[in-house]
Parts: sequence; C-alpha cells; structure tokens
Amino acid sequence: MAEATKQALWGGRFEGSSDPLFREFNDSLGFDHRLAIEDIAGSIAWAKAIHRAGVLADDELAVLLAALARLAVECQADPRAPLGSGEEDIHSWVESRLVARAGAVGKKLHTGRSRNDQVATDLRLWTRGAIDRRREELTRLRCSLVALAGRHREAVIPGYTHLQRAQPVLFAHWCLAYESMFARDDGRLADARVRLNRCPLGSGALAGTAYPIDRAVLAADLGFDGPTDNSLDAVSDRDFVIETIGALAVVGVHLSRLAEDMILYCSQEFGFVELSDAVSSGSSLMPQKKNPDSLELIRGKCGRLAGAHVAMLTAVKGLPLAYNKDMQEDKEPLFDAMQTASLCVRMAAVVLDHATLRAERSERAALGGYANATELADYLVRLGVPFRESHDMAGRAVRHAIGSGKPLEALSIEELRSFCPLAGPDVFESLSLESCLARREILGGTGRESVGRALDEAVRRLGLDRVRSSDAPV
Ligand code: ARG
Repeated sequence: MAEATKQALWGGRFEGSSDPLFREFNDSLGFDHRLAIEDIAGSIAWAKAIHRAGVLADDELAVLLAALARLAVECQADPRAPLGSGEEDIHSWVESRLVARAGAVGKKLHTGRSRNDQVATDLRLWTRGAIDRRREELTRLRCSLVALAGRHREAVIPGYTHLQRAQPVLFAHWCLAYESMFARDDGRLADARVRLNRCPLGSGALAGTAYPIDRAVLAADLGFDGPTDNSLDAVSDRDFVIETIGALAVVGVHLSRLAEDMILYCSQEFGFVELSDAVSSGSSLMPQKKNPDSLELIRGKCGRLAGAHVAMLTAVKGLPLAYNKDMQEDKEPLFDAMQTASLCVRMAAVVLDHATLRAERSERAALGGYANATELADYLVRLGVPFRESHDMAGRAVRHAIGSGKPLEALSIEELRSFCPLAGPDVFESLSLESCLARREILGGTGRESVGRALDEAVRRLGLDRVRSSDAPV
C-alpha cells in the first residue's frame, strides 16, 4: 500500500489524513524494525496468554501461531523486510502482516494489549539479548588481554602518574589492570540484565489489562524472571535503557583509556608497542607514517556512548507518568550504543591479538627517569630513617644525579652518601629493577609472583566465565 493512503492503527477516530512531514517525523519503523523478532516473540506469548484467558479459541490460536512463526522465519531471512512498507512502527507492521496472512483472526491479537506495554516488552527482550552478546565480546577482549600478558610475562614497562615515569611495573600487570576494568563492566551489564528481566506485558496502556491474564505464566513464557510490579511504572520505565547504556558508557571510558595508552606506547617517542599493519593505516602524504587509526577510532567512537547516555537521561527526566511519545527516542541511542560498543570491543581485541611489545625498549625506559627513587627512600627507611626525611634525601640525590646526567645507580657510593649518610654498598642492589619489583610481592602489586598469581587467577576466572555465559538463556 502506498505511504499516503496507509491506514494507521488508530485511524478510526480521525477524519483528516496526516501531514507527510508529520508521518516522517512520527514513524519509527526506520529504526524499530530491529525489534521485529522480539515483537513476534511477544505476540506469540500474548496470543497464548489471551487464549488461556478465553479470548481466543483453539483453532484461532493455531492460525495465529502458524502465521507468526512464518513471519519470524521471513524476518530472520530478511531483517529489512519491514522497511518500505509505509507502516508507522514495527508493531503496526507485524499486526498488518498478520492480518494479511491470517485474516480476520489477526485482528484479535491486540485484545487487552497496548503498544505501550508491547514496546516496553520488545525493548527489554532486545536489550537482554544484546547484553548477552556484549558480555561474550567483553569476555573475548579479556581473553586477549590475558593472552597478551601471557606472551610477555617477564616484560617491564615504566608505570606512570601524571604521565611522568613513576615506578617500573610488569607489562602483564598493565594488561591485567584493563582486564579488571572489563570484568567490572561485565558485572555491570549482568546487574542491568537482572533488573530489566521483568515482563511489562499485561500492563495495558497504563492501568493494567482488563483481561484475566496470568502474568506470571506469560512472563515465564518469554524467559523473564517474573512480571513487573506496577503498570504505570512498567510502561514508562526506561531506566533499564539508561542503566544499560550507562554500563556501556563505562566500557567506553575503559576502552578509550586503553586506546590512549596504546597510542602513546606505539608512538616513536615511547616505542614500546608495535601495532600490526592489519590495524594501522598510512598517510597519503608522508610515506614513513604508520598511524594507529584503529585505536584512535576506538577512542573517538567511545564518546558516542557517553552521548547516548546523556541523551537518554535528558529524554526521560521531564516526563509525566505514564507513556509519552518522547520515549520513542530511546531506541536510536540504545541501538547506536550497542553497535558502537560491539565494534569497539571487538576491534580492541583484534588490536591486542596482533600487538607486540618491544620489551627491551620498555625496560630501558623503565630503568630511566629515576623510577627507582622510591627504592632509595625505602632503603633508608629500612635503616631507620623516617620516611619524610628519606624522601627528602632521595630527592636531593635525584637532583644531583640529574645535574650530572646519570641515573641514580650510576652515582658513586661517596656521592650517594653525601645525601644519604647511612647508605652502604648494598644500596645499589636496592636500586635495581628486580629489587623494585621484588619489593612489591603484595596482593594486587606488581611483584613477579603476585602478577603470576593474578594471571593464573584471571585465566581460571575466564574459563569459568565462558562456561557460565554459554549456560545463560538468550
Ligand atoms: N513506536 C512507539 C514507541 O517506540 C510505540 C508505542 C506507541 N504508543 C503510543 N501510545 N503511541 O514508543
């Protein structure tokens, strides 16, 4: 049917036809066609529910179920099938296809249901599935980080604060820092999933359906943990979208920091990391360039996740109860955030899988920059000097070393003693890289054994995660 003549679901009350610009402005099919499978799943469950409530006869249910099942197969084969139909939204499209296929009985499906509880249900189903896929991708990224750490178990890099060399750390420790962040992100998505997994169907437009639906059975049928508690809340709640995008925004913050670290590390100034040609690009003008575009785009795209979060917060904050059309604006930020997060997480994993550490360069950098000055202060503490004084003595020794263009460990014992009178010849041992690391065999620290244990633990955890995520219902 041509767009201009398409009869809307709500056309009965209207005499005049819609302005074409209003149609374009109002219609959501252009983006909510992504909900087709969820809308059909919800419709199948609703058909069964109203059948149990005595609204549909057995043969009517059978006709509806067969037509809906066929429609699902078609949508799976061609997800863009609804586009160009001129329907207002995916709910109208599914219903009109159903009526076209099943005839008059198709018109009974919407009994006791509103697009308000329908869209809230569809979007929860969609978000639930998308969360499960993002969690799989995060697990894969965490595996890449752990594998990278495992390939460079021994390597040392300078650790930074204020982007100034601070103390040496194991490269594996750096990898596991990001693994910890993504593990928390996974937890945040899992938590959001728990809260969203309630079924709004049966809430009607806002006041609850007038038909005797067993909402517990209906909820279970769709894999929800139970029905929502309050019909007004159920049709107007979008905190599950806000919360999910919020969790993705934090993923984005972590990915962006990872990208930023790696962009620095693969610059010629740092030179710690070599990116694969497969994820880099060249310059059209400067033949020598190898640019970390993959990482820069991760850093850039992650801004969209924060933007989507703000868009959702502001879209909902001024809305009176219950449903308002503003809420149709929930979908594009959610879809975009999910797609962006998916792309960035998967890209980051590929970048890490092909990255190599130039361990001799990073270790050389870790040895420079007076990153062992804390060791000198701690050495003096072990001889009984209060830390504030030893800090001052070490600081003056560093200043002298900088003036003579030498690292701390290259000063003579006499030079060192002029600032730290108690220093003995064993001081040099304390200033070595290995000693810096060995003194940090603390839970969560960068000592070789501590990091080895953390790495083994992460491997074990990820193995368990994989089992758990494949058990989860999708
Ligand atoms: N396309 C709409 C949305 O996404 C569906 C709900 C329409 N409800 C209504 N009362 N107009 O929000």
